Amino acid sequence: MAAAKIRFECNQCGYETPKWMGRCPTCEQFNTLEEKTARPAPGKGGAGLASFSQKDAAKPMLLRDIPVKAGGSEARKATGIPELDRVLGGGLVGGSLLLLGGDPGIGKSTLLLQICRQMASEKFPILYISGEESASQIKLRAKRLGVDVSGLYFLAETDLNAIQAATEKIKPALLLIDSIQTMRLSELSSLPGSVTQVRECTAFFTQIAKIHRAAVLLVGHVTKEGAIAGPRVLEHMVDCVLYFEGEGRDAYRVIRAVKNRFGSTHEIGVFEMGEKGLTAISDPSAYMLAGRPIGVPGSAVCCSLEGSRPLLLEVQGLVSHTHFGTPRRTANGMDYNRMVMLLAVLEKRANYKLATYDSYVNIAGGMRIEEPAADAAVIAAVASCYKNKALDPAYLVLGEVGLAGELRAINQPERRITEAVRQGFTACVLPAANKKTVKNTEGMRIFGASHIGELLGLLL
Ligand code: TYD
Ligand code: MG
Repeated sequence: MAAAKIRFECNQCGYETPKWMGRCPTCEQFNTLEEKTARPAPGKGGAGLASFSQKDAAKPMLLRDIPVKAGGSEARKATGIPELDRVLGGGLVGGSLLLLGGDPGIGKSTLLLQICRQMASEKFPILYISGEESASQIKLRAKRLGVDVSGLYFLAETDLNAIQAATEKIKPALLLIDSIQTMRLSELSSLPGSVTQVRECTAFFTQIAKIHRAAVLLVGHVTKEGAIAGPRVLEHMVDCVLYFEGEGRDAYRVIRAVKNRFGSTHEIGVFEMGEKGLTAISDPSAYMLAGRPIGVPGSAVCCSLEGSRPLLLEVQGLVSHTHFGTPRRTANGMDYNRMVMLLAVLEKRANYKLATYDSYVNIAGGMRIEEPAADAAVIAAVASCYKNKALDPAYLVLGEVGLAGELRAINQPERRITEAVRQGFTACVLPAANKKTVKNTEGMRIFGASHIGELLGLLL
């Protein structure tokens, strides 16, 4: 066998080179290149890993001969938190690796303890490993959250060899790692949290998951810069990536799947952080519309589809005379470029003179809109403020807006209308193309518009 080549890797950005340099050419940091060692076998269990890889990887199998466990559901276990199960696609899958990312303080550790409260039992042992908090801190929090279950083990540890030993002893069905940035493979010289450590540790946990058929949930902090050494570098290594979102000052939190090998990625789960930890918000539309100003210009309601769930959102628009040469544009909760484009369409195609106005668009409640179906509501909210005329609060506004000012069809209008009916809306303005096909409107008055001029004529 040829001698292993020596390679160097930057512990900040992961850049690899056969030659050592004082400064990494990619991230331009000094003294970050380290010699890359071959991945050591994790602890004394190295033999176990070797036998695993030989046994499982050696012979290819015909796809048709691979046994299927009844619908794959046997291996899936519901967490007992319905909002989380919805995002996971039904529950946790044994042998899989999950990543839960989010800002510090958003509630990741709280969620882990709540998962323990629901799932842990003698038959389903859980091992909770924390590199951030001590046993007594966790105990205090668990007590406050009412976690008093059997089958829940705790270990405050960051060294992977110790974790490997504990896993072999307890044989957990679920392993919780809080957080991956604090974990450390002592054979590597780089600091915990560096790209090399985070990557190698994750590879280690992948093997643990495979060997013990345990689900492994890794917590990953998103750092301020959007995380180089954070969850981003791991996304391709895990089966499922969940992000915990929400504004620190607001109580509500959204869990979103950005990757899921076992389910859809469009689902969201909505929670509220309170005295007793996270509680599910069963009616997010009502929650998002609470406090909506009625009869005030500059507000329109649209319905965004988040996976299988329609969500009513209030779009707010504000225009005010600018005191500078260049008017200011601010988008909160939607893409800035999309907002600027919509304002230009409004100016050019409907003759609204916005060039001397500062314009602001805000999605109330801190939610974020990704769908073009909200375009018409943005146009309506801004135009309503410009004209200083309030929209009828019973109206739902839907439609994608094109550069010619045309209203383009949106998908699944019925689902959105049904949700609006449930919240007491009685009228809806839709793209004309949708009006032709939409059925089952449950008593909602439907108006079709093919151009933003027509839309604004109907609403204002
Ligand atoms: P935590 O789960 O520690 O966040 P993370 O692990 O993502 O860093 O959550 C910490 C925040 O949540 C903290 O600001 C306090 C708040 N919190 C509550 O409001 N209620 C609770 O019951 C708990 C446990 C935490
Ligand atoms: Mg934490």
